[in-house]
Amino acid sequence: QAGVFTYDPGFTSTASCDSTITFIDGDKGELLHRGYPIEQIASKSHFLELSYLLLYGELPSAKDLEKFETTITRHTMLHEQMQYFYRGFRRDAHPMAIMVGVVGAMSAFYHDSTDISDPRQREIASHRLIAKMPTIAAWAYKYHIGQPFVYPRNDLDYASNFLQMCFAVPAEDYEVNPILARAMDRIFMLQADHEQNASTSTVRLASSSGANPFACIAAGIACLWGPAHGGANQACLEMLEEIGSVDRIPEFIERAKDKDDPFRLMGFGHRVYKNFDPRATVMKQSADEVLDLLGIEDNPKLQVAKALEKQALEDPYFIEKKLFPNVDFYSGIVMEAMGFPTSMFTPIFALSRTVGWVSQWKEMIADPQNKIGRPRQLYLGATSRDYVDIENR
Ligand code: SDX
Repeated sequence: QAGVFTYDPGFTSTASCDSTITFIDGDKGELLHRGYPIEQIASKSHFLELSYLLLYGELPSAKDLEKFETTITRHTMLHEQMQYFYRGFRRDAHPMAIMVGVVGAMSAFYHDSTDISDPRQREIASHRLIAKMPTIAAWAYKYHIGQPFVYPRNDLDYASNFLQMCFAVPAEDYEVNPILARAMDRIFMLQADHEQNASTSTVRLASSSGANPFACIAAGIACLWGPAHGGANQACLEMLEEIGSVDRIPEFIERAKDKDDPFRLMGFGHRVYKNFDPRATVMKQSADEVLDLLGIEDNPKLQVAKALEKQALEDPYFIEKKLFPNVDFYSGIVMEAMGFPTSMFTPIFALSRTVGWVSQWKEMIADPQNKIGRPRQLYLGATSRDYVDIENR
């Protein structure tokens, strides 16, 4: 066994499941995928290699990696008839609404990979979801902006393919910038899996009833959409826009402390990390690199973000509450600099997290102890009483 972690009894008693995929130490700010630190993965690996690691538990040999990459590349196309699903949405539909609908609809198109009792079908469903999610997300974007769909290409890597499906137009050639593709791939890796977060727990709970994988992943996408979870990257950029300038930061920091004010610093805080989010550190480096490459290092939102981070981290309230930037704080700045509208930030998070959801789904389905999730409650309502006819009420 790679390493036996001992949990304190308190933690074990609240654990919703056991897993061997991702380990987080919230106090140390540590994130391991199958034992490998996220910092090393983000600098040395790439998204499909990390996907293989999450799915199968070990880093692949060169031969296995090539076979896996070819399988994923050759499953990136969507059933042509699925285009009609997009046309049923209003043009201004949020891309996440489209992704929830289209991924759920995969249950109706890929019947030969919905029987979860068949390991071969589980494998095919896993590959289809990872392979097709970039196409689904890119087409949601193209539909939203009224441009024609661009098909995936087999001569491009995963991140480059996604960028060309989003930004290429039939009227001219499109050359993927390799630095942007590397930054996109790194964003995919930083958001790939994160233990039992809300959307992963949703996928596990849905899967425990035996529902097909496409319906379960659609449930995860719906949960991720919330601004307290995956929707925070969009909300964070909108917050930075609202703050507008460094001199307005103190006003917003005071609002974030005011219990009567619903305002929270989006991209700050975490349910588990109480020291720092290691992903945010890497994402911040990416922001500097991409903006520097694009020659917009004086990006006003990046200046506000860095000043906000500095002031908040020196503020006694945030120190006492152990609040600091999470993965969503800088990711939006990078994605906006790459040309994405804020409405595409959470779909990109969903695209990245699909491999985490699928890996956790596979782990759960394969567990012979897997039983339908059935959380209990602490009942605080009325005790038993007799019905009162309406004339006596
Ligand atoms: C993700 O679970 C995961 O792993 C999620 C994720 C993943 O990869 O899947 O990491 C992705 O969802 C990251 C989080 C993205 N969300 C945001 O950035 C939204 C803003 N953050 C918050 O809404 C909040 O921090 C949560 C939801 C993330 C956590 O909320 P909690 O459970 O209230 O946080 P906490 O228990 O650590 O809060 C401690 C205190 C509370 O005050 P008191 O009740 O003790 O008086 O800090 C306050 C909170 O009210 N607080 C904030 C705050 N976050 C928490 N105050 C101001 N601004 C904030 N952002």
